[in-house]
Amino acid sequence: MAEDHITSLLKESRQFSPSAEFAARAHVSSMARYEEIYAHAVRDPDGYWAEVARELRWTKPFTKVLEWEAPFCKWFSDGRLNVSDNCLDRHLEGPRRNKAALIWEGEPGDVRTLTYLQLHREVCRFANALKRLGVCKGDRVCLYMPMIPELAISMLACARLGATHSIVFGGFSADALRDRILDADAKLVVTADGGHRRGGVVALKDAVDEAITQCPAVQRVVVVRRTGSKVAWKEGRDLWWDEALSGVSADCPAEPVDAEHPLFILYTSGTTGRPKGVVHSTGGYLTQVASTTRMVFDLGDEDVFWCTADIGWVTGHSYVVYGPLANGATSLMYEGAPNFPGLDRFWDIIERHRVSIFYTAPTAIRTFIRWGEEHPTKHDLSSLRLLGTVGEPINPEAWMWYHANIGGGRCPVVDTWWQTETGAILISPLPGATPTKPGSATRPLPGIVPAVVDKEGRPQPPDKGGFLVIERPWPAMLRTIYRDPDRYRAQYFSQIEGKYFTGDGARRDTDGYYWLMGRIDDVLNVSGHRLGTAEVESALVSHDLVAEAAVVGRPDEITGQAVVAFVTLTSGTIPSDEVKHDLTEHVAAQIGKFARPAAIRFADALPKTRSGKIMRRLLKEIAGGSSAQGDTTTLEDISVLAKLREDEE
Ligand code: WTA
Repeated sequence: MAEDHITSLLKESRQFSPSAEFAARAHVSSMARYEEIYAHAVRDPDGYWAEVARELRWTKPFTKVLEWEAPFCKWFSDGRLNVSDNCLDRHLEGPRRNKAALIWEGEPGDVRTLTYLQLHREVCRFANALKRLGVCKGDRVCLYMPMIPELAISMLACARLGATHSIVFGGFSADALRDRILDADAKLVVTADGGHRRGGVVALKDAVDEAITQCPAVQRVVVVRRTGSKVAWKEGRDLWWDEALSGVSADCPAEPVDAEHPLFILYTSGTTGRPKGVVHSTGGYLTQVASTTRMVFDLGDEDVFWCTADIGWVTGHSYVVYGPLANGATSLMYEGAPNFPGLDRFWDIIERHRVSIFYTAPTAIRTFIRWGEEHPTKHDLSSLRLLGTVGEPINPEAWMWYHANIGGGRCPVVDTWWQTETGAILISPLPGATPTKPGSATRPLPGIVPAVVDKEGRPQPPDKGGFLVIERPWPAMLRTIYRDPDRYRAQYFSQIEGKYFTGDGARRDTDGYYWLMGRIDDVLNVSGHRLGTAEVESALVSHDLVAEAAVVGRPDEITGQAVVAFVTLTSGTIPSDEVKHDLTEHVAAQIGKFARPAAIRFADALPKTRSGKIMRRLLKEIAGGSSAQGDTTTLEDISVLAKLREDEE
């Protein structure tokens, strides 16, 4: 752990209660009701979660609830179900049959709406196509795609067969894609000839071609025609999406799988250079994703729910696809950038599609603030009734701006805290019940028992900062790190004995509200994207000219944190802007453009302890603009620090 105590400076006294009108129609409509459900779930967790899980359709009902052999859990293990059946077939039997499941808008402005019946048909056909290509239950399929309906179709088709999908965000480079394909041992990749982004085309197929030259297990590549761009082609391996579908039947019964069957693997950054393959289950995951979507977003049949996250991240998995569809809701999906063709694209989309629930990241909100409120005010946003945020701590001023300028002062704001590993939202207001305080994720959801503790695991008193842990297992929690159970145990259950360690700092105020204070490990949060400092460091040192690198975060007004790299070059190399540029592009090629350092600082040496550990705390202070005030008694060579400070001036 990087720091052993956390100081909390934020004081915020504003409070907003849900309007009587909102509360009256909400699923949970008072704090008293929330407290009642919460208390019941604490008293009888198995009873509570069994009740929630029974809202899904089980092919074979479960009799067991939690089996916990710390740190490994199973939920509902003797039950069988299928996620695709729950998200699609289940809704075909009633009035939702012809309701919009997905409203999709492409960046160029094309719109497609898929009703539940239509989406079901497309999913069945693609599942049959996958079968014909040799995909079986238990296989891994990699999806490297733009935000187009075929991505959701591919996910649900995999789920229908019991194949495990591994989605790689389209912003990752060919190298990063290759590592993820190899780790998951995927045999098939689905991609596209490109995706539209900010008026240009993201060349996904090129990256796949490059990646799989080193992935012998990949037998087939299915390519969606999206942009019409010219792509290289390998006969026998590559196949157009429509060819894959030619002549397939639309009849494909969903394959019931065990509740613990892995629905997906999603790679996320950790504290080492190697990303972790977070494994999620079927029954527990869907139970909690479905119930949180309903509770936190107060989802009803008339809503149009828009979560702006890319499906390549966990937020898109849980709240663009699985959560809304499990509830028979209408989910809006947008392909492109928020500033194309104009700075008002999002507000234009909300106005035209009458979006009622809008869920986005604080980084995006801070960007909108910078662009100016004239962009939202040009549009009729009166369809909105609820706003949400996720991904990083939201500063109270951004919260206030969002509430006033997007929500017109009438929409509750739910600040939802969770992680790739938690699968679903764990700490969040319930919009019809919880009085909100700008900047706080408020209270844990029923069934979730968090705590703020010190390094030894002792609970901290109110308002004292500490480590956020979760005391009890929950159904949507990760099951393991793919092929690395030891890392799972070490990462999440050894730091604070017996408790799930989140890696976040937090404090709890006297009302029991949680205030998240950011990562306390070596993980950065840049624009709501997790990035391990070690990952960027290993990318840098793989460059011929780099001898040593240390990467830290510095606060950034828009992106939350920005990457700052301290680099020592191999002897004889002269620091220059050209070298800087090369290194920046090298990081882009190794990981992806979003990981490029905002600043690279050359140093003759890095500050180290006598035992040779890089003193990141000092680098962080220097990167943040303050002149390393902290304790330097363990520093091996004090002149190194003086030199770094000098460079700053
Ligand atoms: C941070 C995204 C403060 C946190 C769902 C966490 C937040 C990491 C919030 C997970 C929030 C997420 N307030 N911080 N409401 N939501 N975080 O895995 O540091 O991409 O550990 O999952 O984002 O990021 P991940």
